Amino acid sequence: MLQERIADLSKCVEPDRVRREVYTDPEIFELEMRRIHEQVWIYCGHESQVPKPGDYYTVQIGRQPMLMVRGADGRISVLYNRCPHRGNMMCGDRHGNAGDFFRCSYHAWTFQHDGRLRSIPMMESGYAGTRYGRDNPDCSMKRAARVESYRGFVFASLAKDGPALTEFLGASRVAFDDMCDRAPAGEVEIVPNCFRVIQHSNWKIFLENQLDALHPSVVHQSTGRAAHEVEKQIEKRTGKAPLSYHMLSAFATVTIDKWDNFQTLNYPYGHCILTGYMGLRPKDPDTLAYEKVMQKAYGKKRTEEILGVNIHHVLIYPGLSVQSPLQQLRAVRPLGVDRTLTEIWHFRLKGAPEPIYRRSLAYYNLVNSPATLINADDLENFWKCHQGLASDGGDWVSFGRHHGRDIEKDGVVETAANCGTSEAPMRNQMKAWAGYMRA
Ligand code: FES
Ligand SMILES: [Fe+2]
Repeated sequence: MLQERIADLSKCVEPDRVRREVYTDPEIFELEMRRIHEQVWIYCGHESQVPKPGDYYTVQIGRQPMLMVRGADGRISVLYNRCPHRGNMMCGDRHGNAGDFFRCSYHAWTFQHDGRLRSIPMMESGYAGTRYGRDNPDCSMKRAARVESYRGFVFASLAKDGPALTEFLGASRVAFDDMCDRAPAGEVEIVPNCFRVIQHSNWKIFLENQLDALHPSVVHQSTGRAAHEVEKQIEKRTGKAPLSYHMLSAFATVTIDKWDNFQTLNYPYGHCILTGYMGLRPKDPDTLAYEKVMQKAYGKKRTEEILGVNIHHVLIYPGLSVQSPLQQLRAVRPLGVDRTLTEIWHFRLKGAPEPIYRRSLAYYNLVNSPATLINADDLENFWKCHQGLASDGGDWVSFGRHHGRDIEKDGVVETAANCGTSEAPMRNQMKAWAGYMRA
């Protein structure tokens, strides 16, 4: 049935609009998993999630349950979380330590950390003369076709062919460079554990929202206003309100016209960057102390370069949204056509003073966590969007804002001056989507 309709998929995406079935059709979802999520580089986790040999962390890539595991030699493997004997899931816990090797809980086949078969109980008597044994790769745990890491961030691709990770990431690498360079030690460390939110909406709705610079001053206005009221009162009383109030009040004080001053840069493979500094260089003692540590590590000139990087948000299509200046990321794991898991992680800058970490934690809790109104505001709209798209009230989703005013140079689409709220990032994502789905 879908085979007949695949030819029509190209008709689902026009430069400035998309058919609603792209968000609601379960068969299109299955095809997306096969042609996008189970092909391209997907973020698995950070190396610091598995510091010791035998440490593992489970992760979903497309429809596949996977394990990220560190071996005794320090190398990280990504394996299917499945025993080759009778298919038992190898690790039922979300994360843990496997010990010196994996041991299946069903019939005790054991495997090295890189997935190679180690032993089968009474292998000789049970399997002599059969096709099963150490030489048969089908008796080992299957590995992800490719695994690479960039500055400690581990990605896997389930397809053996495709661009190398650095080529795939292209300019979006800045997400990890910006995050790590802000650490005096040049690297970050994950903070266990993450928030997990299941959204009752299609995965693309979340990604399209990430660089939607128009929505914050609408959707989050009420939260921003309430915070701004309190902020003003504290300022009146004490002269200065803590920075965390600004993290919320900005949703009211940065109005739509101000968001238009920002810019989006749209790259091949659907990646996009929203520029715009997050105003995190106040002259308070904590920031000044941090700048001193940075200058000691990098020198004055390089410190200025690092702290002057002008990024609000980096979207790495199809599964990662990074806010590098605040050391946070959200990984998107589609579960079904109308169900999407997001993992919300944050990181410590190695070598930075504790108050800088507290600042990241405050943003994590106030803006990105499921406990904040900001997150609830977004979730409500995601759900309502999906409900509306599932209805017969219309056939198209419109991405027409500032369409025709994009500036294309060498495959990179920049929004024109004063078009920061352009829907160029959504157009770029759908262009990549259509390319993958045609393949
Ligand atoms: S299913 Fe794993 S050993 Fe039998
Ligand atoms: Fe939002």
